[in-house]
Amino acid sequence: MPGKIEANFILTDCGELLTMAGGRLSPRRAADLSRLKIINGCSVAALDGIIVWVGADPEAQVTLQPGSVELSARGRLVSPGLVDAHTHPVFAATRELEFEMRALGKSYAEIAAAGGGIVSSVKALRAADHQQLVNLALPRLDTMLKFGTTTVEAKSGYGLSVDDEIKMLEVIAALAERHVLDLVPTVLAGHEFPPEYRDDHGGYVRLITAEILPAVAERKLAEFSDVFYEQGVFNREQARTVQQKARELGLQLKFHVDQLTNQEGASLAAEMGAISADHLEYVSSDGIAALAVAGTFGVLLPGAGYFLDMPQRPPVRQMIEAGVPLALATDCNPGSCMSESMQLMMNLACVTYKMTPAEAFCAATTNAAWSIGRGDRLGSVEIGQQADLVVWDADNYRQVPYHFGVNLVRRVIKKGRVVA
Ligand code: NIG
Ligand code: FE
Repeated sequence: MPGKIEANFILTDCGELLTMAGGRLSPRRAADLSRLKIINGCSVAALDGIIVWVGADPEAQVTLQPGSVELSARGRLVSPGLVDAHTHPVFAATRELEFEMRALGKSYAEIAAAGGGIVSSVKALRAADHQQLVNLALPRLDTMLKFGTTTVEAKSGYGLSVDDEIKMLEVIAALAERHVLDLVPTVLAGHEFPPEYRDDHGGYVRLITAEILPAVAERKLAEFSDVFYEQGVFNREQARTVQQKARELGLQLKFHVDQLTNQEGASLAAEMGAISADHLEYVSSDGIAALAVAGTFGVLLPGAGYFLDMPQRPPVRQMIEAGVPLALATDCNPGSCMSESMQLMMNLACVTYKMTPAEAFCAATTNAAWSIGRGDRLGSVEIGQQADLVVWDADNYRQVPYHFGVNLVRRVIKKGRVVA
């Protein structure tokens, strides 16, 4: 039959398909953040991992090559693969003692000041070798995949020396080779001041700009550079110095800002043309306006707010109304959010941030993809996008954030192959 489309993957009988159509052209903001573009009762076909057709009546429209993957969703909900836009998945030791200390009344900042926190993860990471770190991270990535995540941004930031930051980013590169997940690497040399620079913050900023970032850029080990701009960590000028250098070296910018206190960090991120400003519990109205004008993403991390039992939540409705593009992520790390589950983050976004289930889905798929520079390749189910899909044990999208604490994933499809 003339005009038939050739494919080697087909998923038929999708009950409710969240296409996020139009997502490949631009991120969603304001009222558009709830546009799921649902098609009921349809099929999705792909050729070599790229979506070539979405519609009804596949027999008439699609020719399958011999050996094709053929799958039925049996009337279930189907969505794009979830995108986790902010994680720290490479670490050598868990920190459950700090979890217990918080239960006994200590704060995140007090624990850090007492030698716990990021610095304790730095000590553990420096003592571990490449292979140990790969072996420890692989099961975390497996969990992410089983819970429906198909692309993950992954940060360094527990090395904080030339060799250890390179080691961490080489671990991320090795994981990207070994694992079916797509990994997007970020250098976070400005995560904390390492013990040897405790009394010489200027010296560490110079090490970052003169040695760490150039070494990372030369080896092409990162796409993004991030910095933790916060009281007691990197101040405004230090954060600016680090990120100016990163930008000169061709890296795009991300920031951990306004997490524990308001530092007008969102304004700095917007002013420097960052792709995203993450956390934002204490963002000001000026910061929100600056993000909206610059088109800088707000990446929301409701798991960290929950896990640290933060007294302050980000003003999410105000950000949506101002037109800030928003994404969701786990922040998966041993200190402030020990969870790989984007399903849980969607639940927390609805319960604690009063996002709607539709907003949570857009923020966890197409917008999350844009916030790591991938929106034109993945995050929506439309022709030309990567065939990354989740078949859910649910018949409509509201059930996913609603039914929490369980894994509702039935199947995960990555580039047109069933992987979980
Ligand atoms: O995103 N805010 C700073 N960094 C991490 C925490 C890392 C850690 O505690 O190890 C975060 O929450
Ligand atoms: Fe983080």
